Amino acid sequence: MIEIESFTTPSPKSAFFAELRDLLFTSFESNFTEEDWEHGLGGTHICLRKSGKLISHAAVMPRRLYIEDQVVNSAYLENVATRPDHQHQGFGSKLLQVSSDLIFNQFELGALSSSKKALYRNFGWQDWKGPSFVIHDGHWIRSASEDCGIMVLKTRADISWNSSSRIACEDRSGDAW
Ligand SMILES: CC(C)(COP(=O)(O)OP(=O)(O)OC[C@H]1O[C@@H](n2cnc3c(N)ncnc32)[C@H](O)[C@@H]1OP(=O)(O)O)[C@@H](O)C(=O)NCCC(=O)NCCS
Repeated sequence: MIEIESFTTPSPKSAFFAELRDLLFTSFESNFTEEDWEHGLGGTHICLRKSGKLISHAAVMPRRLYIEDQVVNSAYLENVATRPDHQHQGFGSKLLQVSSDLIFNQFELGALSSSKKALYRNFGWQDWKGPSFVIHDGHWIRSASEDCGIMVLKTRADISWNSSSRIACEDRSGDAW
């Protein structure tokens, strides 16, 4: 039986932490760091279980982004993964639909950074076309190597933006974007 549940990050002592770590480190293989793990804690976890086992996961993380001088209350999508032995069966897509709907209804903008952009396009995500920056000590530092991976999701919020504008996130340990 397939079940999808969503909840905010529980106590580190919960059994969920161990099963999520196993899912993420297995799915991303050597590309997953402790910093990546930290980036996906403190928001909303969307989890797909099959017969009780955690198969697929996405984290919707509240994050302040900047489009030119506009502060945008965004959701940053992190740690999207499906167990290798369950990929290409539509589980990731199911989670992306739920995650995208949540972001559409509750935030001003969705954003993510990925090399697997085709998957996200199916759910309304679009490429950011403008230059990206990371804000460090109040200064906007150009992050040109990130430009090609950034995608955004328009939401029901009544804000306007131009995807050719400058976009920035605040710096953090590990990958800023
Ligand atoms: C990216 C990832 C989360 C996708 O999860 P998934 O559960 O395989 O996703 P889906 O099955 O919904 O879709 C994957 C592909 O299978 C296809 N697919 C879906 N159902 C299918 C089916 N029944 N039969 C055949 N193909 C199918 C989809 O169209 C999609 O094709 P595309 O990649 O060409 O767009 C997964 O590959 C993964 O965990 N990768 C490693 C971690 C990673 O890179 N995460 C993304 C970080 S941004």
